[in-house]
Amino acid sequence: MLSRRHVLSLLAAAPFTPALTACAPGDLPDPIAAWRDPGAGEADPRRYALAHAILAPNPHNRQPWLVDLIGENELVLSADLERLLPATDPLDRQIVLGCGAFLELFDLACRANNRRAEITLWPEGEPQPRLDQRPIAHIRLFEEPTRKDDLFDQILNRRTNREAFEDRAIADETMSEAARQALWPWAPPDVGATADGSPSTTPAPSPFRIEWTRTPDALAALRTLAWNGFDRECRTPAAYQESVDLMRVGRAEIARNRDGIALEGPMIEFAKATGLLTRESLADLDNRFTRDGIEAWRPLAESAPTYAWLISRDNTRATQIEAGRAYARFNLAATAAGLAMHPWSQALQEYPEIADLYAEARRLTGTQDGETLQMLVRAGYGPTIGPAPRRGLREHLRA
Ligand SMILES: Cc1cc2nc3c(=O)[nH]c(=O)nc-3n(C[C@H](O)[C@H](O)[C@H](O)COP(=O)(O)O)c2cc1C
Repeated sequence: MLSRRHVLSLLAAAPFTPALTACAPGDLPDPIAAWRDPGAGEADPRRYALAHAILAPNPHNRQPWLVDLIGENELVLSADLERLLPATDPLDRQIVLGCGAFLELFDLACRANNRRAEITLWPEGEPQPRLDQRPIAHIRLFEEPTRKDDLFDQILNRRTNREAFEDRAIADETMSEAARQALWPWAPPDVGATADGSPSTTPAPSPFRIEWTRTPDALAALRTLAWNGFDRECRTPAAYQESVDLMRVGRAEIARNRDGIALEGPMIEFAKATGLLTRESLADLDNRFTRDGIEAWRPLAESAPTYAWLISRDNTRATQIEAGRAYARFNLAATAAGLAMHPWSQALQEYPEIADLYAEARRLTGTQDGETLQMLVRAGYGPTIGPAPRRGLREHLRA
């Protein structure tokens, strides 16, 4: 008999902790194959860069990237409109950030391969208020000597880490350096710790600012906000169901889909096989195990020694792309510094049921009128984890 403690730890640890280590069962594809030597043997520099780009962080691991290769040295990136998150991301802002992260990894891989990528964003105009068929970017590659960015070397090491973090402070210099590298392409970078815990209100000259706090009061408020956002999302039926629909339960389901929220491990297999863990039970907040599993996220919110956030001066689609690029760089730079990072986005989302927490998130981070709070992450020192699934380059290429 499965003990309550076992099921709790299974539900608590597994849903958003895709530490995939084993190969896929049977003839199913290996969900982490894309992480092994990406682009190896690729003669086409576009495909080499794309093999790295698909390893980008992206909301709910939807991987909504469609690519048309054109001629010898051009390509067009579009969003896969079947892979949006309408309930939790009704304006597609987060999806666009994930496309920005994709472009940043693409660019890093180009520069590591003596190619310059000329990226024209939204060549047919910016779709508002939702994404449509119009392309995100037209890209042309030029062969020329380029300097490799050190962040390229972190692409395979980068993770979203949903483990509890150590009770160990991060030095401000470590955060400053990660923020500096994140914002490096946009000069002059405006980064800074909020020494007394009250976020800076000085308008930034750069398109973004990255700030963080680790002072007790500000940290306590952000931990509470993070947990309340998570809890509110779970209690908002459409938003929670969107996550449940994207849960991939067990190795076979993960291998077949290679996206979404992976629930993996021996206990998951056992609970699934015995009928204890079903899609219905996951969707049922009155189910004791589901409820306790959700509750197990509280200590994650609380174990963060630092919360950091990224604010943009406006919220155009181009800015959202650049914010996604900056976040990818922040995550990579943190990786280089030995830091774990975990976005915590619920209170930043734009659906009505969370509006009060959205306002609270803006207040706590000092987001001014006209500015947009694009990312909120917890950062700290955490255990090493495995990579999240990827569908593989072939799935992104249109015929
Ligand atoms: C805009 C954006 C928002 C995200 N929000 C969350 C979040 O709220 N909670 C979470 O656990 N992960 C969040 N993530 C991380 C993704 O779920 C993660 O990138 C994806 O599952 C792939 O895993 P990987 O980053 O380890 O490759 C977010 C990522 C992005 C780019």
